[in-house]
Amino acid sequence: MTTTTTASDLTNEVLSAHSTTPDPRLRELLAALIKHLHAFTVETGLTPQEWMAGLQFLTSTGQKCDDERQEFILLSDVLGLSSLVDLVNAADGATESTVLGPFYRPQAPHRAMGEHIGRPEDGDPALVRGVVTDADGAPLAGATVDVWQASSNGLYDTQDPDQPPFNLRGVFVTGADGRYEFRTVRPVSYPIPDDGPVGDLLRASGREHWRAAHVHAIVSAPGFRPVITHLFDAQNEYLHRDAVFGVKDSLVREFAPPGPADPPDVRYVAEMNFVLVRENSPGA
Ligand code: BEZ
Ligand code: FE
Repeated sequence: MTTTTTASDLTNEVLSAHSTTPDPRLRELLAALIKHLHAFTVETGLTPQEWMAGLQFLTSTGQKCDDERQEFILLSDVLGLSSLVDLVNAADGATESTVLGPFYRPQAPHRAMGEHIGRPEDGDPALVRGVVTDADGAPLAGATVDVWQASSNGLYDTQDPDQPPFNLRGVFVTGADGRYEFRTVRPVSYPIPDDGPVGDLLRASGREHWRAAHVHAIVSAPGFRPVITHLFDAQNEYLHRDAVFGVKDSLVREFAPPGPADPPDVRYVAEMNFVLVRENSPGA
């Protein structure tokens, strides 16, 4: 008597075919991937047309990639996968991290404490300052705070031929008190690239393609785990619908009018302290 193959028979057969994968971590990842892909197909009753549309979407996503554009990372970003990977790998006790994004450029110029990272025409002048400490609150001297952001036209230097190279980017090194300080402009919301398959997906889901206004930072110190993070503007309208799910409450700060003791050449002051944990500490 012949028996009919069920979905779980097929899933088990595929799992078994991969069960001798020599690398243990790859074996674990493949098994979980197969289980979840098969469960997704069964749960949704995926049709051949939908399966093909999905494959065509992934093909176009790959075809949109080149040396400048990484549409797969953008896809991961808008599906919240980048943020989730970040979250499950977060170090206990450190400043919360968030997505790196596609606009980071290594080797930004080192700048003097308090220096402007951009130009007057980049937007409303703001001062960002704070202290970098370890998990016990001890200031970290010699920590680097590598910052970058878009101009008020919503573009990074790499997207805008009218901005000089490394405009709105800079690396600051903390002094003995762990403090850093720089002048910049109040960040604005800007659209993520939506002229590719990811843009089509956002439109098909009725979603917006805006990022909540932010300044990026990578904070590092020898012997400590670096943190890739943002500082978000508390007054920004996209905080609760950031296209890439990057906002975390602990990273939101007011851009407040300067007080009497603050420099008179800025319209806003934002305070952001960073906490780093040692490379070998638990959860790091
Ligand atoms: C960014 O903030 O630079 C960014 C992050 C994810 C996708 C697109 C842009
Ligand atoms: Fe950004």
